[in-house]
Amino acid sequence: MSDQELTPLARLRRALDQRVAAGDRTIVLDQQLLSDDKPTTAVESPSLVPASQVGMAIPVEADFASLTEHNEAICNCLKCPLGKTRTKFVYGVGKPTARAMFIGEAPGADEDRLGEPFVGRAGQLLDKILAAMQLDRTQVYIANILKCRPPGNRDPLPEEMNECFPYLREQIRLIKPELLVGLGRIAGQALLQTKTPLGKLRGRWHEYEGIPLLVTYHPAALLRFPEYKKETWKDMQLVMARLGVSR
Ligand code: URA
Ligand code: URA
Repeated sequence: MSDQELTPLARLRRALDQRVAAGDRTIVLDQQLLSDDKPTTAVESPSLVPASQVGMAIPVEADFASLTEHNEAICNCLKCPLGKTRTKFVYGVGKPTARAMFIGEAPGADEDRLGEPFVGRAGQLLDKILAAMQLDRTQVYIANILKCRPPGNRDPLPEEMNECFPYLREQIRLIKPELLVGLGRIAGQALLQTKTPLGKLRGRWHEYEGIPLLVTYHPAALLRFPEYKKETWKDMQLVMARLGVSR
C-alpha cells in the first residue's frame, strides 16, 4: 500500500513502526511524524526535539493488529548487525490461526535467499515430519527465533536473540497457538530461558507463557544423526495426541 492510500493515523502508525524497527526505544512525537503531506518513509535518526517541547513520548512495544502489519513494520529491522548482511528478512509462514506453531533457530542460506523459513534440506525433512503428522505447512505456522541469517550459519549470538525475540513473542500473541514445538537446542533453550541440554528438554511438555511447549530435535540434526528420528517421532506423537490428530 502506498503512503497516499493510508489514513493519517495509519501513516503515523507506519512511521512509528519503522522507527521501532530501526531500533528506537522512545519516539518523540514531532512535526515530521505528524505531517500529512510529507510521509515519513524511511528509517531516520530519532528526533532530537526535547519531549517537553512537543508533548509526549510514545511507548513502542506495540501490539499489532495482524501478522501482515507486524511483518511490514519490522521487515527493515536494523536492531542488530544481521540486518546489514541479510538478503531477505524471514518473518514466518503458515496459517495465521494455526493450532500448532513450529519454531526453529534462524534462516540458513536458502531461507535468506527466498524469505521463507525451512525451505532448504532441513525444511524438506520438516515437511515430511508434518506429513507424517497428517499436517502440512499451510495448516501450522513456522517461524524462527532469529529473522535474519547469521553469516556462515553460525549459532545466533545472545544479543541477536535478545533483540529479535520480541518479534517472535508478538507472532505468538497474534497467532494464539494451542501449542508450540521448539525445533532444536537453540529454540528450546531460548523459549525456556534455560541452558539445559536438548536431550533433557525433549520428550515432555513444558510451558512458554502459559502455552504448552514441546522441544524436539532440529530436522538438520536428524539429517546428520538419523538415529534421533525415532525419538523425534515419539515427541511428535505427543503433539498429535494434544491436537487430537490420529493416524
Ligand atoms: N491442525 C491444523 O489445522 N493446524 C494446526 O496447527 C494443527 C493441527
Ligand atoms: N534451520 C532453521 O532453524 N530455520 C530455518 O528456517 C531453516 C533452517
